[in-house]
Amino acid sequence: PVKFKPVTWREVEEGCARIAEEISAKGVKVDVIVGVLRGGWIPARLLSDYLGTPAMGALEVKFYRGIGETAERPVVTQPLIVDIRDKVVLVVDDVADTGKTLNIAINFLTHYGPRKIFTAALYLKPWSMHRPDFYAEETDAWIIFPWDKAETVEELVKKKGLSLETVSKITGEDIEFIK
Ligand code: PRP
Ligand code: MG
Repeated sequence: PVKFKPVTWREVEEGCARIAEEISAKGVKVDVIVGVLRGGWIPARLLSDYLGTPAMGALEVKFYRGIGETAERPVVTQPLIVDIRDKVVLVVDDVADTGKTLNIAINFLTHYGPRKIFTAALYLKPWSMHRPDFYAEETDAWIIFPWDKAETVEELVKKKGLSLETVSKITGEDIEFIK
């Protein structure tokens, strides 16, 4: 059985704040933040706020088809528009699970000649092949983020046949409003 970890907006903010503190404490000056769409976009935006780094771009990488189910490998599905040449880049994602998405993002971004690439993820799975330079917490559970609740509820109710009541217990709150 899959272990779930529902995460609140507040925990997202606290996690990003911890990451920002660690980045500053290490003396890293980030020139541009690249959020990995879609999941990394909100943490990336919060880090832009907390670090005072307005320059942002996005890279879309797709890997997961359902809870724990992936395609063969992550694929870059939208190109990078922001200029990262000679810049210190912080790549931000919501979670590093197998770690393949961040690895692919790094490989891709390297071609654009950045000065240095740092990675950050809110959550890190213990088995990940990529350990982000910065992360807020390690967990082995399947994380339900505030931005993918509807998707998770849909899968648990429609595909796995769970009742809305059971799903409410998993997500830790009333989910009637997004069903
Ligand atoms: C999820 C998540 C990370 C990635 C982590 O994205 O947001 O980007 O998978 O997995 P990995 O470490 O095993 O590569 P997903 O492909 O589901 O797309 P999304 O961000 O658009 O939801
Ligand atoms: Mg993602």
